[in-house]
Amino acid sequence: MTPTKLQAMHDALAKDEDGFWLDQARSRLDWIEEPNEAGDWSFDANDFHIRWFADGKLNLSANCIDRHLDTRGGQTAIVFEGDEPGEGYELSYRDLHAEVCRFANVLKSRGVAKGDRVTIYMPMIPEAAFAMLACARIGAVHSVVFGGFSPDSLAGRIRDCESSVLVTADGGRRGGKSIPLKANADTALESCPDVHSVILVRRTGDDVPVVEGRDVWWHDARESVDADCPPEPMAAEDPLFILYTSGSTGKPKGVLHTTGGYLLWVTFTYRLLFGPEEGQDVAEDLFWCTADVGWITGHSYVVYGPLSNGARTVMFDGVPNYPDPGRFWETSHRLGVSVFYTAPTAIRALMREGDDWVTQHDRSQLRLLGTVGEPINPEAWKWYSTVVGEGRCPVVDTWWQTETGGTMIAPVPGAVETKPGSATRPLPGVRPQLVDAEGGELDGAAEGNLCLTASWPGQMRTVYGDHERFFQTYFSTYPGRYFTGDGCRRDEDGYYWITGRVDDVINVSGHRMGTAEVESALVAHPNVAEAAVVGMPHEIKGQGIYAYVTLNADAAESDELREELRQWVRKEIGPIATPDALQFAPALPKTRSGKIMRRILRKIAEGQPDQVGDVSTLADPAVVEDLKKNALV
Ligand code: WT7
Repeated sequence: MTPTKLQAMHDALAKDEDGFWLDQARSRLDWIEEPNEAGDWSFDANDFHIRWFADGKLNLSANCIDRHLDTRGGQTAIVFEGDEPGEGYELSYRDLHAEVCRFANVLKSRGVAKGDRVTIYMPMIPEAAFAMLACARIGAVHSVVFGGFSPDSLAGRIRDCESSVLVTADGGRRGGKSIPLKANADTALESCPDVHSVILVRRTGDDVPVVEGRDVWWHDARESVDADCPPEPMAAEDPLFILYTSGSTGKPKGVLHTTGGYLLWVTFTYRLLFGPEEGQDVAEDLFWCTADVGWITGHSYVVYGPLSNGARTVMFDGVPNYPDPGRFWETSHRLGVSVFYTAPTAIRALMREGDDWVTQHDRSQLRLLGTVGEPINPEAWKWYSTVVGEGRCPVVDTWWQTETGGTMIAPVPGAVETKPGSATRPLPGVRPQLVDAEGGELDGAAEGNLCLTASWPGQMRTVYGDHERFFQTYFSTYPGRYFTGDGCRRDEDGYYWITGRVDDVINVSGHRMGTAEVESALVAHPNVAEAAVVGMPHEIKGQGIYAYVTLNADAAESDELREELRQWVRKEIGPIATPDALQFAPALPKTRSGKIMRRILRKIAEGQPDQVGDVSTLADPAVVEDLKKNALV
């Protein structure tokens, strides 16, 4: 897009915000009843509400499939690439329609109706997308749980949203190894008595137990249902999905997105950032977003954004370094990927393996590169741009969150100059504000906490089952504004540089982990009296997990116990939560009122023990000396 065209969008918005969004909604989506209302929202405590296109009716699955059938029925919708190179196949929009309809009919045959919650615990195979789209087709609310989460984490999420149906697979394949999804699911279901049906997809062919009456194989069930299922008319504000994400306190929150606003936001941002120029066919590109559907990036940019636009999207069920570190570029070339979107952690890991793994593969078909999930250091940005992109492909660094539904700050290709390490400028309709600790607005070049002062269509609408928590978490710190939890610097050109989380959330390889979650897993171990967890710098992951653990009086510190505790957390939550460092601490630094002073723990974990600052308010300042002496960095 040219700078002039982007400016025209910003101008149109400034002139008539409602008119702009109604135009976008009507032109980019297919409505059963077109909306006449755009945004209707207030972030104020006494009138708190968020609605978009509230009088419109549509169906998301019809937007992602049915509306393309006349013009693109035979065109590829999904390119599946399995764990083994070349193990895959393509599905057309017509194929996708039939499979999604069948899946919807199987769900219906199991009693699933509009508004019911369905949990999806799957590998990165097309059936995961069928299940998501099938839910949307019949108005059920899906909750996808990342396949790397433990049985306990899965069970907690199933119970929180009270779903009675689970979609899973016998197993997954990652880097040549099997992931026992069905076994995990069976363990989880021991504590989920309300789940009456499991739709089981065959992926690995591993022998798995099938519970009579409860479990049904997808490949059997699909034979006995119709390949047509009418899409359920949904109000724009009807719930679409729940996705659990870690916060600074308590258990993960069920972020709830609704139908119309979310779909517009991912449709709009996909086209703006990753699609070809307006007027060109979106299917000229082959788009590969490497995220798993268990995360928001997979929802918005593997499945919904691309399919709503009629694009061709890749689903990859493997890992970046299998069978070797050239996998991304080998596969990109073989499949003809033109737009590639991945996380900084993957870029850093591959950068370390050397340029040969990249340069031995032809990359001339690539035209655009994207990144998401965490701040990208300028060094990795430059490597991505020059070595992978041959200096030819724009690098689109996209800042956003599970809560925002889709991208918020990013350079629109052709219209916004990039700077290595900066997500650059807000997209149309996004209103960032930097504030100091008291909530005072900072002008011009400044660094502070990042808020958004206006709603946008893709904004989350509530925390499932806990609307008060939604308000408290995001709108109470700085009244009248949405607080992102991120720190940010704005430079003299008005460019935004995200500096990372300022709350008790750790960003491990682009995945959010709440310190409180890891702490409660640790204290659940019989030998642990107390635990405090903070982030530490990590060369590949961006941030690692640093745990301070105080043992019970009758337990002895040992390397074996240290390893046992690391494995314990891994089993309790999942591999991504495994502490990178675990320091035994006879005591934690606390104020006289008993509050742990995390600032001190963070400085030690960051390798800056001389910067812990004032410790005079501690109940026992001597504790800090021991922590410093035994620091692991
Ligand atoms: C947090 C949200 C957005 C999908 C993946 C993560 C960090 C995300 C960037 C970026 C700097 C980024 C922020 C944000 N983050 N993208 N381009 N530059 N930081 O979604 O799990 O909801 O995490 O990821 O800290 O708050 P999420």
